[in-house]
Amino acid sequence: MRAFLGVGLPAGVRETIASAIAQVRDLHAPVAWTAPKNLHITLIFLGEILPDRVPLVERWMRVVASGIDPFSLTAEGGGGFPGTRNPRLLWVGILEPLELVRQLQQNMESALSGAGFPREDRPFHPHITVGRTRGVLPPAWGERFVQAFSGKRFGVVPVSSFTLYESRLGPGGAVYTPLCDFRLEGSGKREIREEKEP
Ligand code: 2AM
Repeated sequence: MRAFLGVGLPAGVRETIASAIAQVRDLHAPVAWTAPKNLHITLIFLGEILPDRVPLVERWMRVVASGIDPFSLTAEGGGGFPGTRNPRLLWVGILEPLELVRQLQQNMESALSGAGFPREDRPFHPHITVGRTRGVLPPAWGERFVQAFSGKRFGVVPVSSFTLYESRLGPGGAVYTPLCDFRLEGSGKREIREEKEP
């Protein structure tokens, strides 16, 4: 099964992003826009994992969640990966400071690495994917997208938990199914060191 760990967005934030998408949709570019219900922040992409590994992931994620306090993020602005000129992925940004989400993501990664999962080889840039390009974009389209999203506040994302999702890819787009929520209930920051599975 294909799985990832992430943070779901409140309905209000999803709706505000969907309205902004509706405005740039009219520019008719070859972009597959993310369905509003699928908008999320990925913390760790696990990829294909054996279903019998899920309890191990859940066990370690509960340990991580018990060491981190709830916090909030703000969704604002937009951009493209790898850049604005020829973006393959269009995103809504997460406003600084990002220390708390970075700490959470690092603890998750350390715990998973200790449990035998490979480490992500690209740096963590928290974002909300709003679209993926599916062809050649009109000239300066990326810049127009960024301009349209620039300075827009999409709202506050309270992070009181994170979720393990199963992701099924199909002709109608991805279907994300939440499998387990991990409530943040730390009483301070605790670092998870890489340890062998207990
Ligand atoms: P993205 O939004 O940055 O593309 C579910 O598929 C989530 O997992 C997506 O939001 C996606 O993050 C992330 N994801 C999908 N494929 C990935 C890959 N090969 N490497 C890293 N993250 C991936």
